[in-house]
Amino acid sequence: MDTGELEFDTRMLGADFSGTMDNEEASLRPQHLDEYIGQDKVKENLKVYIDAAKMRGDSLDHCLLYGPPGLGKTTLSNIIAAEMGVNIRVTSGPAIEKQGDLAALLTNLNPGDVLFIDEIHRLSRSVEEILYPAMEDFALDIIIGKGPAARSIRIDLPRFTLIGATTRAGQLTTPLRDRFGVLLKLELYTPEQLSCIVQRSAGILGIEITDDGAYEIASRSRGTPRIANRLLKRVRDFAQVRGTDIVDREIANYALSRLEIDHLGLDNLDRRMLETIIKFYDGGPVGLETLAATVGEEAITLEDVYEPYLMQIGFLSRTPRGRCVTRLAYEHLGIAYRQKPTPAEQMRLFDPPASDE
Ligand code: ADE
Repeated sequence: MDTGELEFDTRMLGADFSGTMDNEEASLRPQHLDEYIGQDKVKENLKVYIDAAKMRGDSLDHCLLYGPPGLGKTTLSNIIAAEMGVNIRVTSGPAIEKQGDLAALLTNLNPGDVLFIDEIHRLSRSVEEILYPAMEDFALDIIIGKGPAARSIRIDLPRFTLIGATTRAGQLTTPLRDRFGVLLKLELYTPEQLSCIVQRSAGILGIEITDDGAYEIASRSRGTPRIANRLLKRVRDFAQVRGTDIVDREIANYALSRLEIDHLGLDNLDRRMLETIIKFYDGGPVGLETLAATVGEEAITLEDVYEPYLMQIGFLSRTPRGRCVTRLAYEHLGIAYRQKPTPAEQMRLFDPPASDE
């Protein structure tokens, strides 16, 4: 089956839209809400919704988790199912090709179960249509036969919880978005939170790490636990080959420099994006598609994977006319910043005010 997954190369950043992971990666995932570090607001609210649903003996309302890739949407869904004490079925928007695929998933659920649909914005319209009554009335409307003989039958479903995850909440149709009772936005993590995650992961993997070694990795992981955990494993490789037992700041710094990840966590493509906007488009604005074609990447990759962090650290701004690089980014790249004239100043260049003399 063509799952339509996006493919990425071996850079540290992208390889994750595919949702694939190895066993080691799975072992790092927290199983319960109290082990889950960060996303405090999401966690606190979720806890209330879960406790309340359990007190009523009801299923949890449908939840939509959205935010950049690698922040733990799948992890959180597994945690929700575990906290509710129910099973979880995991699938993704592109994997559900036909209405029948979704019908098969829904009719096999037990009361209270969680159905997790990753990349839910990629569901086809026809599949989405049968999802509406399933979410709203816990029923499936199936058309049997064709033409004048066609008739519709309604199949009752158990009360279930749909958890949808997406990096692009804006691409969801309004009727689908409106059917989620709980909307949870995941934010990029702070270096302090990531540092705790790195320490926790190091403990699970049996890696000895110092506080500043963990912080070094954390502060270069673009606010993303998945990247932090990957970098930890690569740093471990460098430490091992160098015969060092403890991951400290020095070995972390050495390994990350070898991976060409700078002290803010930017990789080659981040730098190329920023330099392209500066050198070819005078700092911007430049349209996303034009920028993507110039750096030879897909627009969706730049938008979903690269831009959130560049905007968070204040290096890039999205304006209605396109992407602009900020003064901070010039400084980081060591390129002299030239203040551009404002539109009013530009007009004055052509039409200077009359002198009094
Ligand atoms: N591993 C990956 N994400 C995590 C998180 N948010 N908390 C703890 N461990 C994690």
